[in-house]
Amino acid sequence: MAQSYVLNIGEVVLRPFDARNDTDDLARIIGQIWGGGNNALTESQYGLIGGKSWGHWQAKEIMSYLSAAQCSAYTAVEAGKIIGFCSYVLDRERLIGTVGYNGLAPEQQGRKLGSAMMDFVMRKFNEEGMLYAAVIVMNNPQHAPARRVYESHGFKTMVGLDYMFRKL
Ligand SMILES: CC(C)(COP(=O)(O)OP(=O)(O)OC[C@H]1O[C@@H](n2cnc3c(N)ncnc32)[C@H](O)[C@@H]1OP(=O)(O)O)[C@@H](O)C(=O)NCCC(=O)NCCS
Repeated sequence: MAQSYVLNIGEVVLRPFDARNDTDDLARIIGQIWGGGNNALTESQYGLIGGKSWGHWQAKEIMSYLSAAQCSAYTAVEAGKIIGFCSYVLDRERLIGTVGYNGLAPEQQGRKLGSAMMDFVMRKFNEEGMLYAAVIVMNNPQHAPARRVYESHGFKTMVGLDYMFRKL
C-alpha cells in the first residue's frame, strides 16, 4: 500500500491521490483558487466557453493530469478534511523531476503548507535520484505565491512563456 507523509504543520498529511474519492473535493477547491489560470482568464474576456464555467474545465484538466499513469499525485488531508494537493512527474532518462499542479483551499493558504508540499516534492526528487528539477508557472499576480514558493526552493527562470488566444 502506498505511503502517507506527515507535513509537521497542524495535522496535515499527504496521502496518495485517490481519483474516486478525492475528485469532488479537489474540483471544488480548484474552482475557488484557479482564478488566475488560462480558463478563468479566457472566460473573463470571452464569456462561458463550452457552456460551462472555467472551474469545470480547470478541474477537468487538473484531474486528468493527476490521474495520468506517469503522475505521482498526493492529496493533503487534515483531520479527515481534504484541503489541497501536490504532484510531480519523473523523467528517469534525463533525471528531471517536474513539479506538477499543486494548490490549497483558500482558507489554508498562508500556513506555509505550499512550501511544505514543495519540500516534500523536492525530497522525492532527491530520493528518486533526479539531478534536475523543473516547473512551469504563469507570471500574473495570482501566481505570485506559487512563484515565491518555487523561487524559495531554488528555481530560476529560464524563459517566459505566453499563453495566446483568439476567437475564430
Ligand atoms: C501556490 C500555493 C499552493 C502556495 O500555498 P501557501 O501555503 O499559501 O504557500 P506558503 O505559505 O508556503 O508560501 C507562500 C509564499 O508566497 C508569498 N506570498 C503570498 N502572497 C504573495 C503575493 N501576493 N506576492 C508575492 N508573494 C506572496 C508568501 O509571503 C510566502 O513567501 P515566504 O515563505 O517567503 O513568506 C497557493 O497559493 C495556491 O493554492 N495557489 C493557487 C493555485 C496555484 O497557483 N498553484 C500553483 C500553480 S500549479
